[in-house]
Amino acid sequence: MSAAHMQHLDPNRRSGESREFEAALRKKIVGQDEAIGALVDIYQVFRAGLHSPGRPVSNLLFLGPTGSGKTRIVEAMGEILFGDPHAVIKVDCAEFQHSHEIAKLIGSPPGYLGHRETHPLITQEALAQYHTDTVKLSLLLFDEIEKASDALWQLLLGILDKATLTLGDNRRVDLSQTLIFMTSNLGGADISTLMSGGLGFVQPSDKPSDKMDTKVERTATEAAKRKFSPEFMNRIDKVVVFHPLRPAQLEQVLDIELDLVQRRVLDTAHGQFVFRLTRAARDFLLREGTDIKYGARHLKRAIERHVVYPLANLLSTGQILIGDVLSIDWDAATQQLSFARTGESTLVTMAPPAALFAAQAVSTWGGRAIEIPAQANARETQSPVAAPAPPAPAPVAASRRRHDPER
Ligand SMILES: Nc1ncnc2c1ncn2[C@@H]1O[C@H](COP(=O)(O)OP(=O)(O)OP(=O)(O)O)[C@@H](O)[C@H]1O
Ligand SMILES: [Mg+2]
Repeated sequence: MSAAHMQHLDPNRRSGESREFEAALRKKIVGQDEAIGALVDIYQVFRAGLHSPGRPVSNLLFLGPTGSGKTRIVEAMGEILFGDPHAVIKVDCAEFQHSHEIAKLIGSPPGYLGHRETHPLITQEALAQYHTDTVKLSLLLFDEIEKASDALWQLLLGILDKATLTLGDNRRVDLSQTLIFMTSNLGGADISTLMSGGLGFVQPSDKPSDKMDTKVERTATEAAKRKFSPEFMNRIDKVVVFHPLRPAQLEQVLDIELDLVQRRVLDTAHGQFVFRLTRAARDFLLREGTDIKYGARHLKRAIERHVVYPLANLLSTGQILIGDVLSIDWDAATQQLSFARTGESTLVTMAPPAALFAAQAVSTWGGRAIEIPAQANARETQSPVAAPAPPAPAPVAASRRRHDPER
């Protein structure tokens, strides 16, 4: 071909689909660019059908401190591709420390006592159960591999190399359409020492962050090389080191998690209200749920305990109603979060079924029919509006459906 006909191509351009995949991952995962990049690369290769045959789609080892998103990113991939965070077969290696427990994974040979009762975790059907017409990729996660028994290691080595697994009853499982993740927080303790400035290291804030990143990476990979055999390390396609989340990133994680709670609230049949947290309330949750050592590990639990449980109480005692705007603040006196209704929101979602509504009203008001004020009614049937109205003072009039049993 003459030079005039040569068309230069752009090998770095990604398909729209994989750009969407990346954007979706970034919405769920804070930081961890290297991990996101690795998953997008792999996804693109898989969708193009160019992954090597006879091997897993890829073997990835995720290292780094606890609570930095190693497990979360795998669940996020399940959510994005299959609409379900549980679209992942997860093997907690700590549960298979004794070699005989391997039967839970692959089933026991025929003739063994209890053979029929064992349902192997990794089967062809289990791997295929989340496949869609367009995405026939399976996700298999081995969590905390440093805790695996020798028998599990042998099994893992076979899978990583040949993409096949032989079950107890000799059935063969083909894992060539499977993406294998292994996580370990090996070196995690060293990394948090590094981050908190122990062992003579300078405080992270005094350091350019890329230097710290290099150090974190080296610490993790060296720990892995010390612990894992060369034959294992040679089967890994990519080692990704997750970084400890910085305070600003932990705050972003808090936003993501609170957003999920808000969405849960808006999805309930009778409790669509909006809540807002003050700065002090957010800081309290960050103190309770995150730290340099545990990352975002306890954030969800803190949110459940301090936000979700109280919201459930408020809802079930009728103290919050549809369309309310709730302000969540921190009360220094009780050292707890405090909840106040600050007004009504124009953020209105679908009206709940009328029958349910009526039944509720009747039961709480001893059979007396309640008239729903026209204004409130209108709020409830409007289509969703993005922004809530500015908070108005809480009306005292008992004309609303508020049914505080204490009154
Ligand atoms: N980078 C992140 N982006 C978004 N959420 C995160 C991130 N890191 C942690 N989280 C939040 O913290 C929780 C715990 O994180 P995750 O389970 O991924 O930790 P991990 O790195 O697997 O730790 P471990 O080594 O202890 O298993 C997640 O469920 C998620 O809510
Ligand atoms: Mg994990």
